[in-house]
Amino acid sequence: MIDEALKALKNGEIVLVFDDDNRERETDMIVAAEFMTPEHMSTIRNDAGGLVCTPLSAQNSDALGIPFMTDIMDIASKKYPALGELTPNDIPYDEKSAFSITVNHRSSFTGITDNDRAMTIKELALLCKNGKQAEFGKYFRAPGHVTLLRAAEGHVLNRRGHTEMCIALTEMCGLTEVAVCCEMMDDVTGNSMQTKDTKKYAEEHGLAFLSGAEVVEAYHEFLDSK
Ligand code: 5RP
Ligand code: CA
Ligand code: CA
Ligand code: ZN
Ligand code: ZN
Repeated sequence: MIDEALKALKNGEIVLVFDDDNRERETDMIVAAEFMTPEHMSTIRNDAGGLVCTPLSAQNSDALGIPFMTDIMDIASKKYPALGELTPNDIPYDEKSAFSITVNHRSSFTGITDNDRAMTIKELALLCKNGKQAEFGKYFRAPGHVTLLRAAEGHVLNRRGHTEMCIALTEMCGLTEVAVCCEMMDDVTGNSMQTKDTKKYAEEHGLAFLSGAEVVEAYHEFLDSK
C-alpha cells in the first residue's frame, strides 16, 4: 500500500492518512503542495471539509523564517497578556500543535476561492522547491486564508501528527517538503468521519489509504535503505 500511495502522491493525487486510535482518530486528505490545483481544493473542501492546512518541513519553515504560532504569542504576550493566558497546554491528545502563521499569495484577491487558495499553496511549494525561501515576503502577505503548519524537526521521529506524516511522505517521494492536509468530516453527524467511512471513500474513489503506523514503518525502512 505504501508504494501505491507514494506513486499516487508523485502523480499529484490525493491520498488518505488515518493518524492513530490513540491520537486524533482522524483521516486527512493529503496532497503534495507542488501539484495543488483548484480541482483538488474543491474536492478537499467538499469531501473532506475540515481545516485546509499546509504543512512545511522544519527546514523549509526555518528557511522561510516562520515560527510556531505559540512562539509568536509568547513574545507578543509581553504587550498583550491575554495571548499568554491562551497557551495551549491542555490539548487532550498531544503536547504541542503544529500551527504557524496564515498567508495569501500577493496576487490573490480575497484569498479564499479555490483558485486563490490552490495558487497560494502551489506557489509556496514552488518557492521552496526553487530555493527562493528568502523571497517569501516579496510574494506572500499575512494574515491570509492558508494555514501553515510547522513540522517537528525530524518529523515522524519526533511527532506523529498528520503534519509530520505529510513531510515523511513527501521526503520518501523525493518531492518538495510542503503538503496540504485536511480532516475528513462527516456531513451528517458533524464529527470526524469514522475510519470505516474514510476507508469506504478511499475504495470508491480509488485512493490510497494509509495508517500513521504504516507511514512511520515505511520511513524507518527508507532511512535504513539509504
Ligand atoms: C489542523 C489540524 C489537523 O489535525 C491536521 O491534521 C494537522 O495537525 P496534526 O499534525 O496535529 O495532525 O489540527 O486542522
Ligand atoms: Ca461534504
Ligand atoms: Ca491537530
Ligand atoms: Zn491531524
Ligand atoms: Zn485535526
